[in-house]
Amino acid sequence: MGIGMITIRPFVEADAAAAAELERRHQPTPWSERVFRDELEAPSRIYLAADEDGVLVGYAGAMLVMEEAHVTNLFVEPGHRRTGLGRRLMVELIAEAVVQGARHLTLEVRTRNEAARALYASLGMAPVGIRPGYYGDDDALIMWAHDIDRPDFLERLRGKA
Ligand SMILES: CC(C)(COP(=O)(O)OP(=O)(O)OC[C@H]1O[C@@H](n2cnc3c(N)ncnc32)[C@H](O)[C@@H]1OP(=O)(O)O)[C@@H](O)C(=O)NCCC(=O)NCCS
Repeated sequence: MGIGMITIRPFVEADAAAAAELERRHQPTPWSERVFRDELEAPSRIYLAADEDGVLVGYAGAMLVMEEAHVTNLFVEPGHRRTGLGRRLMVELIAEAVVQGARHLTLEVRTRNEAARALYASLGMAPVGIRPGYYGDDDALIMWAHDIDRPDFLERLRGKA
């Protein structure tokens, strides 16, 4: 399957409708267009888009709270999975979070989401706890990576990419 050039760029308001459509089609608890728009307007947010010839094929977001970056969303269009795009989005998200002062990274993931858990583990994130029933039908695994601002952290992730 041929896959074109994919650019990682800031997620803008004009991406909200396409992102909501991807969520509606593929996500169990989809974010609406309104949620994306509200997130973009909220302070201390970083949202990145994966753009293939003008088509939105993925996105990642984080909220900065003091020195912590909380990942709020990560999505890759199913036809583009296992090509390294999720990882690329996360590495760029981490890089931008560090630029904006983050020193630690955290997120919640469904315990049954093997793909995302494997991706986060490969980025150096470790499971530290469970929020029972967080998703109704599944528990949340809480993961952390500390000291993402240390000089070798991103270097190592980029070297492996
Ligand atoms: C999770 C998700 C973003 C991964 O995106 P992706 O582009 O397929 O991930 P990558 O190709 O960058 O994979 C990087 C690594 O993650 C792990 N991984 C990714 N998908 C995997 C899967 N289905 N099974 C096992 N490991 C997987 C692998 O270690 C992989 O490296 P490899 O391909 O060299 O083995 C994607 O599956 C997705 O959008 N899922 C639905 C939304 C979601 O669950 N988001 C996370 C919410 S917390």
